[in-house]
Amino acid sequence: MSLKIANVQLNNNLILAPMAGYGDVAFRKLCKDYGVGLTVTEMISVKGLLYQGKKTVEMLRTADSETPSCVQLFGSEPDEFYKVISQCRDLDSFDIIDINMGCPVPKVTKQGEGSALMKDPVRAGKIVEACKKATSRPVTAKFRLGWSENTSKEFAHVMQESGADMVTVHGRTTEQLYRGESNVEAVLSLKPLLNIPLTVSGDINEHNLDRYKGADGLMIGRGAIGHADIFSVINGGEEEEIYPLIKKHIRYMQQYFDNEHYIVANMRKHFAYYLKRAGVKGEDKNRVNLAPTLKDLFVVLDEIFKVE
Ligand SMILES: Cc1cc2nc3c(=O)[nH]c(=O)nc-3n(C[C@H](O)[C@H](O)[C@H](O)COP(=O)(O)O)c2cc1C
Repeated sequence: MSLKIANVQLNNNLILAPMAGYGDVAFRKLCKDYGVGLTVTEMISVKGLLYQGKKTVEMLRTADSETPSCVQLFGSEPDEFYKVISQCRDLDSFDIIDINMGCPVPKVTKQGEGSALMKDPVRAGKIVEACKKATSRPVTAKFRLGWSENTSKEFAHVMQESGADMVTVHGRTTEQLYRGESNVEAVLSLKPLLNIPLTVSGDINEHNLDRYKGADGLMIGRGAIGHADIFSVINGGEEEEIYPLIKKHIRYMQQYFDNEHYIVANMRKHFAYYLKRAGVKGEDKNRVNLAPTLKDLFVVLDEIFKVE
């Protein structure tokens, strides 16, 4: 199945979820290798971009293969969204602008950002309008079912009326965080009310796709960590072997980041998933997590994955 977001055509309807701390350029490039239709950056602060923070601007790097590309922005002030999209040249290379209205982290919601916008639909609508005014590119919004109750019908309507070109809905409330199951039925019930594409997010993996029938787009987050090849599997291809996948991931990290300490620390988060999938636990797992350098890491991994 393919998906068109306003004038932007994707090769298929699979989208890599924005994931702070995981979805850097190296991981997105890896997912792109395995056929994901669209990658989305980690959430990036509008304020950070306006101040041109070095770290924030670095988060805007994309791989050549990320076409089309989507940047996810978070903030609370419509004027700031307008300013950053119309003035920040680093954003020009992105084909789609997504707005984060679902982040439940208190540090974010206390500023009125992320899913706090679900409590203020008027403001959320003004943000979409400001973004649409600032660019002719598609603007999309990602949100949850609601803050504590399911208010997604009203909210999705506001998004559409404000000009959003697609909505992505994670089937949990803010108060639920990541507990319980994602309420797929509640998300799919929005479909008849919308004339823009509906992408569903929450708990999708290669085994449960039937539950998501009826959605225009499928957004996969945790199911892709340690398993970037999930996209080729869903598209009918083969699973990749885990060690070659890990090696490619590290190679991409080296391509984009020059601080070895950072690469090792960042890979540890991904190893939690890679090793679980490979059935590696106990002492072997500890050795991977304690390896201080890439050289040490490869010695341990070669042993675990039995490379002569
Ligand atoms: C570690 C982590 C970081 C996330 N960061 C973001 C983010 O930056 N922006 C966003 O909209 N959602 C973020 N999410 C939510 C995901 O995009 C997704 O909606 C959620 O994880 C449910 O999908 P899944 O079950 O496929 O992971 C994050 C989720 C996780 C687990």
